[in-house]
Amino acid sequence: MQTQVWRAEGYAKNARFVSELGRPLLAMLDPRPGERILDLGCGDGALTAEIAASGAEVLGVDRAPDMVRAARERGLRAELADAMALPFVGGFDAVFSNAAIHWMKRDPDAVVAGVARALEPGGRFVGEFGGFGNVAAIVTALVAVLQRRGIDGAAALPWYFPSPAAWRETLERHGFTLLEVALVPRPTPLPTGMAGWLETFAGPLFATLAEEERPAARDEVIELLRPSLCDEAGNWIADYVRLRFAARLEARSRTEVERC
Ligand code: BEZ
Repeated sequence: MQTQVWRAEGYAKNARFVSELGRPLLAMLDPRPGERILDLGCGDGALTAEIAASGAEVLGVDRAPDMVRAARERGLRAELADAMALPFVGGFDAVFSNAAIHWMKRDPDAVVAGVARALEPGGRFVGEFGGFGNVAAIVTALVAVLQRRGIDGAAALPWYFPSPAAWRETLERHGFTLLEVALVPRPTPLPTGMAGWLETFAGPLFATLAEEERPAARDEVIELLRPSLCDEAGNWIADYVRLRFAARLEARSRTEVERC
């Protein structure tokens, strides 16, 4: 699987809606002054800043150096970290994550194990990411276009979109009790159209093609999607489905959680 490269500038132009539409999740997190909160996959820190404004002590982590730089430029505490190998042992009352976990397909169990290690017993894990059926039309078009070029597009997909049942099992394996979970269809207007979306989010898939093949492949994906995702006025609307959840780490000893 090719890895995604994040650039804060391109993200702000093509994908500011990701943090804008993640705002309702802050109400679910309900951060309190003095609470220690980890923002997992903080990106450029747009939501981390709102958590900090509540008076909580927030640390953002991201695996993209350019995003960590952008978050620090907002005056936030932010560190480079691999979500699949989180270095924290206790110290956090809550872990928050918006639109990041679907990028952690390689080992979601390692992510949840790291979150459990980072939380104090009874701590909460609140988040939202792509759920089962997310961007289904886009996935189908990408797989078809890659398949026409001899590539197993399904195997190359870099995204993890679990069902609520599968996510519950993953959380429970690591000592969490799921308090709330929902699949939320959220048709999402794309400010820079499908071309901007593909440029920002589908890099790992186009990287499976030779450079000279990419523009034609991209145009083919766009034309396949036009009838279902572009309205009469030329507005592109992506078929997002969010998996939104809140969970609590059972008040067991950390050693017990680590053994799971
Ligand atoms: C999402 O936020 O659901 C998403 C982002 C990038 C690729 C696919 C899905």
